[in-house]
Amino acid sequence: MVSIVYIENDGTEHHVDVPAGVSVMDGAKRYTIPGIEGDCGGACACATCHVYVEGDWPQRLPPPEEIEQAMLDFAFDVQPNSRLSCQIQVNDSIDGLVVRTPPRQY
Ligand code: FES
Repeated sequence: MVSIVYIENDGTEHHVDVPAGVSVMDGAKRYTIPGIEGDCGGACACATCHVYVEGDWPQRLPPPEEIEQAMLDFAFDVQPNSRLSCQIQVNDSIDGLVVRTPPRQY
């Protein structure tokens, strides 16, 4: 299991263990983390799984593919550390990842 911290926009923290092989969005759905919708089920077609990647994690994660960058244009309040959580794969290299949800997804 991989430890991930999801922080809601109001500061509420969820420290959870997510199995390797799913996405960070899948992990949020598994624990019903508020603020991550994931309407398209992870097909990179909705941008409702938008998160802010905290700390030094933006540099430590594999960079976004072109399709993710294009879809981020549709997300609300995009910041330099914005990512689509369905495109971040859970594995041991992201143990301790911290993501924060945006004020809203639409
Ligand atoms: Fe739709 Fe990530 S779940 S783009």
